Formats: sequence, structure tokens, C-alpha cells
Amino acid sequence: MSDLPRYGVPDGDAEKRAYAAIVAEAFAGEFETFNAWVHDFGADVRVLRDAGVLGGLVIYRMGQFFGGVSVPAWGIAGVGVRPELRAKGFAHELMLANLRECHDHGPPISTLYPAAPKLYRNLGWEFSGSRTAIGANLHELALRDHGLTLRPGTPKDDDILGALYSRSHQYENGCLDRSDRIWGRVRRVPVDTPLFCYIAERDGVPEGYTLYTQKRATPNSFRYDMLVRDFVATTPAAAGALIAHFARNRSVANRVQLYVAPDAPVLIELLRTQEVAVEQRMHWMLRIVRVKDALEGRGYNRHVRADAAISVIDEALPDNSGAWTLSLSDGHMTVRRGGQGPGLDIRGLAAMYSGSMGPPQLRAAGLLAGDDAHDSALAAMFAGTTPWMPDYF
Ligand SMILES: CC(C)(COP(=O)(O)OP(=O)(O)OC[C@H]1O[C@@H](n2cnc3c(N)ncnc32)[C@H](O)[C@@H]1OP(=O)(O)O)[C@@H](O)C(=O)NCCC(=O)NCCS
Repeated sequence: MSDLPRYGVPDGDAEKRAYAAIVAEAFAGEFETFNAWVHDFGADVRVLRDAGVLGGLVIYRMGQFFGGVSVPAWGIAGVGVRPELRAKGFAHELMLANLRECHDHGPPISTLYPAAPKLYRNLGWEFSGSRTAIGANLHELALRDHGLTLRPGTPKDDDILGALYSRSHQYENGCLDRSDRIWGRVRRVPVDTPLFCYIAERDGVPEGYTLYTQKRATPNSFRYDMLVRDFVATTPAAAGALIAHFARNRSVANRVQLYVAPDAPVLIELLRTQEVAVEQRMHWMLRIVRVKDALEGRGYNRHVRADAAISVIDEALPDNSGAWTLSLSDGHMTVRRGGQGPGLDIRGLAAMYSGSMGPPQLRAAGLLAGDDAHDSALAAMFAGTTPWMPDYF
């Protein structure tokens, strides 16, 4: 038994290495790779310990856009428990401790990609948005250049990429307000292929960019596919110019795969002219950690004026539980204790907050129950675009 608390930052190199060994085995990777990854997270690693390290996780400090405003968030990743100690409740204990830490000292929301959804759902996370990759055959894409020029981007263009990304994705519910660490993931060059960057400009003014890698169909294949990490187009011309850029690789490449919103503007044109396949779809989960801060911290339509009450049920964080009154005007939500509203599971609040589900869907899912007099006000408050993100973490 250690004198240290059961949950906390690793106590030195030995505990970091113990956690690195757990994630390396869990995610089928090289120990040294994961050891460097864990060390890079510095103080943003947490472990659960007894005599030794039982499991751990890492925290991405970032923001997530809701209603056009960046809400500070923790992104939780690398959740792992020693294989011989699984199914004994240690991951539950680890996540509950992390949730309490976030509630007391962290941001008002927490986001993650689940490999075991039940683990997180038990603690109040709920599916609240997706990450969708679509694929298209290059020889079917239009070649028109739309009057824009494309130039290769370099690390000197990072600010341009950041500004274009924010301009385009800020008003997309769920997209990350990327931290340097998340940008580091997006810009990381794989060992076996370069990372390509092209910026679409009109008269020297950037309107979009793309970042992508290449992947051979088989190791010995001559032809390859284009795997796009970022496709950012702030105008239809930029979207067309980037699509045409992919098409110009059709003599040597077969397909392009890109992450876009489920209702992305670029799909209007693509779906009109050819078949677009959904090639990958993952769903992320959101946790409303502090009800008042989370609700007051996101953005809203400033033309919506509405009042509603909810009665939150949150077993893991009882501080959130109980009656709340929500008042929205001029794009600002004010939240205070009290009122008489329907029962809303904290998981349902996450799905409503992101815009993933409205009151009718929440009722069908069993996450909202009781008086429906407030439903239309709640629907109006949280109406928005379908939540998504291009990032995985
Ligand atoms: C997933 C993992 C972290 C769970 O750890 P654990 O200590 O075995 O989990 P717990 O015993 O605390 O289980 C907590 C809850 O999650 C559920 N759960 C755990 N692993 C699950 C799995 N693989 N599939 C479905 N549900 C799972 C349990 O049933 C339990 O719910 P219950 O109490 O309602 O039955 C562990 O299996 C692991 O390290 N796996 C490899 C890495 C991984 O997949 N990480 C998750 C990344 S998001």
C-alpha cells in the first residue's frame, strides 16, 4: 500500500513508465512510443494506484465550440487498466475520481471517445456528436479550379491555418477549439508518408486549406488513397478548388477520404454529382460537469428569448442535481437554482447541450420525463447545427 492518495499525478518516472506499459499493451503499441507520449503529457497524467499503478488516463486541455463560443473542456484519453485487474471496478473508480477533480478544479465539460461506452454512461457521459469520414472516387470529382490558386503551406502558415479553422469551425457545434497539443496531433508527420498542406487563395487572400497524407492500398501497390485530416473551406470556391486538387491526383490515386460535418456544405455539391460513401463513423461522449457554468458558458442564438426549468438527476455529482431555472436573452443564459421542470438525466443534458437531441428524442430515450410544458422553450434554446468534430484524441 502506498502512502500516496489512490488517485493523482504519477509520482515520478516509475509510475509514468508503469502507466505507459499499460497503455502500450492495451493499444498494441511500442513501449518506448507510449512512454514518450506519457512523459510529454507532464502533469496532465492521472493514475489510480494501490501497491502499484492500477490504471491511468491523460487529459487534453482544450475548448469545444457550442453555439459559436469556446467552452473550456477536458478531453480524456488513454484510459487503461492493467489487464489482470480488469472487471473489478478500477476504471469506474479512476473515472469518478477524475470527474470529481474536474468538477472541483477543472472546466465545466468533459469529452471523450469511448471504447467501452457503458463505463462512461454509468458516470453521466452521453453520446453527443460524431466524427464521420466520407470517401469519394477521384475520377468522379470535378476538376474546375474556381479561379483560386493553390500553394503549398509551410509551418510559417500555421497562423493562417488556425484562423481559417476557427472561422470555419467555430460555428460548428462540437468542434474543438484546438490547443497546441491537438494541433500537434493534426500536424504530426507519420513515419511512412509526408504530410501535405495546400492553401487555397484568391488574390493572395486565403479562403481554405487542406492537410492530408497518402496511403497505399497495399504495401506494394503503385496507386494510393488520399487521407485528409483537415478540409477547411470558408467559401464554395475554396471547397471546389480543394476538391479539384484531389481530382488532379487521379492518375496515381484512387480515392479521397475526408472528415466533414454530417451536413457539410461541400456535400451539397458532392452528393449532387456522385456517390459519397460514409467510410467511418465514431461517436464522442460529453459530460456536463458543472451545470451552471456549462450552460452559462456556451453561446446561444441572440434572437431567442426563452425561459425553462429542469430538474437534473446526477448521481455521480450530486451538486448538479435538483431544480434549475434557465433564462435566455440577448445570447446569454442565466441559470439559477429553483423552478419546477421535467426530470432530466445529466446524460440527457449533455445530448441537449450539444444539439444532438431535442426534447422529443430525449423523452424517447428515457432521459427526459414529466411535464412537457418546457419542451418547446428547451428546443428553441439549444437548436443548432448537428454536432461533430474532425479530430480524434
Ligand atoms: C475499458 C477498461 C478501461 C475498463 O476497465 P475495468 O477496470 O475493467 O472497468 P470496470 O471494472 O471499472 O467497469 C466499469 C463499467 O464499464 C463496463 N465495461 C468495462 N469494460 C467494458 C468493455 N470492454 N465493454 C463493455 N463494458 C465494459 C463494466 O461492465 C462496468 O459497468 P457495470 O458496472 O455497469 O457492469 C479496460 O478494459 C481496459 O483497460 N481496456 C483496454 C483499453 C481500453 O479499451 N480503454 C478504453 C479507452 S476509451
